[in-house]
Amino acid sequence: MNETTVGFLGLGNIGGGVVRLLREMGGELEKRESVKYSIKKILVRDIYKKRSIDVPKNILTTNAEDIIGDPEITLVVEALGGDMPAAEYIKQALMAGKSVVTANKLALATHWRELLATADEYGSKLYFEAGVCGAIPIIRTVTDSLQANRIDRLYGIINGTTNYILSQMSGKGVSYADALYEAQQMGIAEPDPTADVEGGDAACKLAILSTLAFHSLVPLDDIYSRGITTITPLDIEYGKELGYTLKLLATSKREGGIVCSRVHPTFVPQTHPLASVSGSYNAVYLFGHACGEMMLFGRGAGDYPTASAVVSDMIAAARGEAAPQYRMTSESTITPNWESRYFIRLKALDKPGVLGTIAGILGKHKVSIASMRQNPTGETHAPLLFVTHLARELDVRAALAEIGEDIATIENVIYVEDV
Ligand code: HSE
Repeated sequence: MNETTVGFLGLGNIGGGVVRLLREMGGELEKRESVKYSIKKILVRDIYKKRSIDVPKNILTTNAEDIIGDPEITLVVEALGGDMPAAEYIKQALMAGKSVVTANKLALATHWRELLATADEYGSKLYFEAGVCGAIPIIRTVTDSLQANRIDRLYGIINGTTNYILSQMSGKGVSYADALYEAQQMGIAEPDPTADVEGGDAACKLAILSTLAFHSLVPLDDIYSRGITTITPLDIEYGKELGYTLKLLATSKREGGIVCSRVHPTFVPQTHPLASVSGSYNAVYLFGHACGEMMLFGRGAGDYPTASAVVSDMIAAARGEAAPQYRMTSESTITPNWESRYFIRLKALDKPGVLGTIAGILGKHKVSIASMRQNPTGETHAPLLFVTHLARELDVRAALAEIGEDIATIENVIYVEDV
């Protein structure tokens, strides 16, 4: 039997979930996996706070050093969340030669290089399956199962909150604000939803995932990200009419030797498997040159789904299994000149020649129209919609800048991926 003494940093939703899951499954894991865990200390902010989980007070501490400085503790589970002090504690634990398991995508994505270098230098191990898409084993899939592949494209719905909001907007025709409010009432969205709805959470996950999948350091700063706050029910409705479903899509593509990674609202064809991923579910769809297409689907958040991945990392750590590593073989870049199809929604003056003028401007900038729709309203201005063929972002921007407000206002521009 492999017995491991563990210290926990944090006993909130995730930490509490891990403790509960270990209590529930501990006996079975001993028999099945020959691993046994003894929780020696748990770092909390307030020892006397009322908790939904019952733990003996004598194992609670408010001093991280009681865990990091204790040589008996060989495995640290970091479940504090946030950037600091979590990243600093992870680093200190690695420097003390301990294995660390974390679900903290922000600390990882912002201190990635430093933390992996520390693990390397001190011969310690850092596991983070739970950091990307909760229960979905995507980190192991790209690092342990698809090594023989050259992954060229990867598309993820990797934020459950925004997927829930967009699904509600699409299904019920409600506004962004109403869908967000409902998600907050249900405990799906945080009281401060910024990290989710502005795309930051998805960008952190994409930085980690793309670095491993493409063997290329993808710094968070290289990821262009735009959230869902400007999406209206009208965008979603028009997209539907044209056969598309709107997702906050995290995309990484290899173009030549360069990897480009982005997070933004994107229309995907209704017939694509990603379009059917609704509610707070996550999915990652990728293309490897040997494996072909693959999609992993599941729960990306929540105490038990996240704990499922954390405990699996705890088993890997107890057995001394290798932790994920990346070896750089390609470079990452920001691509201001992204090639995509574009959905352009305008409010245009309903007068002879206006459509021709706008089409002319797009054509002048090498933006070719694949389809268009005008919904007559009987008013002076009418909604006008274009979906382009593949076009370069800088060309689209230049064209739109040239359309004068006297003939049309640009209401929204959304990427379209044929995936
Ligand atoms: N808030 C995230 C989501 C889960 O909605 O997917 C944690 O990253």
